[in-house]
Amino acid sequence: MSLRDALRIPESEITDEAVYRDRRRLLALLAATPALGLAGCAGAEPPPPSTARVAPAQARSGFRTDEALTRYEDITSYNNFYEFGTGKADPSRAAKTLRTAPWSVEVAGECAKPGRIALEDLLRGIASEERIYRLRCVEGWSMVIPWTGVPLAAVLRRFEPTAKAKYVAFTTLADREQMPGLRFRSIRWPYREGLRIDEAMHPLAFLATGLYGKALPQQNGAPLRLVVPWKYGFKSIKSIVQIRFVERMPSTAWNDLQPSEYGFFSNVNPAVDHPRWSQKTERRIAGTNRLLANRIETRPFNGYADQVAALYAGMDLRKWY
Ligand code: MTE
Repeated sequence: MSLRDALRIPESEITDEAVYRDRRRLLALLAATPALGLAGCAGAEPPPPSTARVAPAQARSGFRTDEALTRYEDITSYNNFYEFGTGKADPSRAAKTLRTAPWSVEVAGECAKPGRIALEDLLRGIASEERIYRLRCVEGWSMVIPWTGVPLAAVLRRFEPTAKAKYVAFTTLADREQMPGLRFRSIRWPYREGLRIDEAMHPLAFLATGLYGKALPQQNGAPLRLVVPWKYGFKSIKSIVQIRFVERMPSTAWNDLQPSEYGFFSNVNPAVDHPRWSQKTERRIAGTNRLLANRIETRPFNGYADQVAALYAGMDLRKWY
């Protein structure tokens, strides 16, 4: 294993190879860079799931917004899907080869009915809905997207999670043959994400199967993709092949890569800056020209505080970022 692997420093963080050849300079870098230090949340006891319940009418108030929609062309050509490359235009070009049917999902862990289930059966009998959600990327841009899909809770309940299911872990397909980006070790594949069980069961948490009334394009995470509108976009894991109910906080791809920058919770929070940039404002990609995108203020929980803030009552959101 190389030193870079051992430290898991992404290539982009290293501009000067001599930095890691020179041991003294490396040690100075380690001391000065919190990103290379201990995991932000490691060691501490994670907060238990909340028992707060949001009233149905209150929850529904978050299902739509009057804000201008981002254009279909922008939603489907300006993407993050590292399995198909790290450039924004890479996924729309490279993901065409992703085979999205037949598709099945393995459900495992702390539940009464684990097993592999075909996507049609996973969704069977659950009414498809349209939800217009804001998506705020940790990089500082945002979109307004009309998704179609199903509430995550309706799908999870099918498998009868046990009392030990404190978290839900999600995994993306990792197939080198279909996903050229897997050749690069930008992330430790497969891409993984997770939610605390109360977050996963919250009425706003959604599994998208389409957008703008059409089937979900591959670059947006076809055929099944998580959408958690009050969290930074990287929680919205794409092309899901596994759902696991677990007792302990699961490891997630970005937290694994850079724990001081990407916490487990990742709630949109303008009061907590990313270590390398401010999170106070965002570039809203809506209307006709993304270069002329409006810069607007970022809101706590991405504007969904009325619906979700109670989940985090009493939690220090600087510590549990
Ligand atoms: N899921 C997988 N499997 N791989 C990824 O690279 N990128 C995440 C998230 N889901 C990503 C992923 C990030 S950083 C963001 S901002 C959103 O997807 C982007 O979703 P979009 O391209 O549909 O806007």
